[in-house]
Amino acid sequence: MSGAADGEFSGKVALVTGAATGIGRATAFGFARAGAAVVVADIAEADGQKTVSDILAAGGKARFVQVDVADNASVENMVEKTVSWYGRLDCAHNNAGTLVQEVAIADMAEAAWDRVLSVNLKGVFLCMKHEIQQMLRQDGGGAIVNTTSVTAFRTVLNSAAYSSSKAGIVALTRIGAAENGPFGIRINAIAPAGIETPMLAKGLGEDEERKRNVAKTRVMRRLGQPEEAAEAVLWLCSPRASYITGHTLAVDGGVLAAP
Ligand SMILES: NC(=O)c1ccc[n+]([C@@H]2O[C@H](COP(=O)([O-])OP(=O)(O)OC[C@H]3O[C@@H](n4cnc5c(N)ncnc54)[C@H](O)[C@@H]3O)[C@@H](O)[C@H]2O)c1
Repeated sequence: MSGAADGEFSGKVALVTGAATGIGRATAFGFARAGAAVVVADIAEADGQKTVSDILAAGGKARFVQVDVADNASVENMVEKTVSWYGRLDCAHNNAGTLVQEVAIADMAEAAWDRVLSVNLKGVFLCMKHEIQQMLRQDGGGAIVNTTSVTAFRTVLNSAAYSSSKAGIVALTRIGAAENGPFGIRINAIAPAGIETPMLAKGLGEDEERKRNVAKTRVMRRLGQPEEAAEAVLWLCSPRASYITGHTLAVDGGVLAAP
């Protein structure tokens, strides 16, 4: 599934938020397959535990911690647990996110805005804060990858809260990279689009024809798989990307390249 070299992350500790399903689950698997000890973090306990048991069954090393990324104490606990279990934190994928049915800005309820921004943007800020503190404390620095979205760069109607939260992550990524590059911490982001996950299913509904029509609008004429997004995360966390920081990499089948 993952193209990361066998053992590329052996002896490393990786933390993945939103790892119960979708892209985060695929990243957690990819890290485990490449030899890392993985902390699977999610608000969804049953699916998160399932990611862990599937990784263990495949011969990997993983533990689950329940987290609400919008809550500072919960995020602090997630990083503390990671370090108490595995001794350090080398790689973090800040990937948890939420999508709600939005309306035009003029009609949007303040509570809907606050919910999306608190999970998607404040959540990434809190994760970065506690992860960076740990990476500064240990020898060897670390690598962080945030999950944004192509909606940070293009207009999707009725998506102001989600798109604004994702645009904020692009800035957080750049600023975090600038602040921490001198200390051996690289911070990048991936901007997915059209990856077949539970979130995409929520956005598009179960309508297969609608899915096919969306796929046709892609430069590559198909939707993407979670493993294709995970691959970019693993690469950005690996020494193969040792001179890359502050960058947002689209994993979008060419959505941003479309005429
Ligand atoms: N699928 C796509 O095409 C696509 C496109 C652009 C961006 N993204 C982003 O990718 C990321 C992963 O999404 P996905 O598509 O794999 O969907 P997904 O729904 O499978 O994964 C999202 C995960 O985040 C978890 N989560 C939600 N709120 C949380 C909270 N407060 N604390 C902790 N965990 C929480 C969910 O339980 C879930 O496991 C999200 O940030 C999403 O915005 C996805």
